[in-house]
Amino acid sequence: MTCSPFQDSGRQNISKTTVNMNQLVSEIIRGISGEKIEWAISDLPDIEGDSNTLRQVWVNLISNAVKYSRGCEHPHIEIDSYKESDAVVFFIKDNGVGFDQQYAGKLFKVFQRLHGEDEFEGTGVGLAIVEKIIAKHGGGIRAEAEVNKGATFFIKLPI
Ligand SMILES: Nc1ncnc2c1ncn2[C@@H]1O[C@H](COP(=O)(O)OP(=O)(O)O)[C@@H](O)[C@H]1O
Ligand SMILES: [Mg+2]
Repeated sequence: MTCSPFQDSGRQNISKTTVNMNQLVSEIIRGISGEKIEWAISDLPDIEGDSNTLRQVWVNLISNAVKYSRGCEHPHIEIDSYKESDAVVFFIKDNGVGFDQQYAGKLFKVFQRLHGEDEFEGTGVGLAIVEKIIAKHGGGIRAEAEVNKGATFFIKLPI
């Protein structure tokens, strides 16, 4: 498994199988140590998709949630989903530093960062990769946030 945000998984071709999202998410969280995070992970539905690139999606979103809530006194990360008529929407919500909602669209472009390198390390490619992978699955991504009130990232995958 690669956790490097430098590998551009968005360029890889996808091959669809039934993907156990519970397993992907729990494996990634189990690999995180030394964080005082309170996790709230709901039972997630399986989806038809490419497990390698979807793993990269969760790695990137979970590592952001961890990073941007690290300074918080009680970091809390929730992962859940809901159904729409023709899609499943998965979301990851943290209570970290958040960002100004007016810039939410910029985050999915390469090298766009809303936080300085001195404050939070990073390269600004993680979300661009996530966006490409989700687009390859025929889905979409969006974010909702407020400064100092955390961020939520929604990924919508067609069913
Ligand atoms: N969970 C989050 N909370 C607050 N800001 C976030 C979160 N996830 C991403 N961001 C913002 O989006 C930018 C782009 O994210 P990303 O592409 O993963 O790059 P990186 O993590 O390397 O900075 C980040 O620099 C940060 O400003
Ligand atoms: Mg990142």
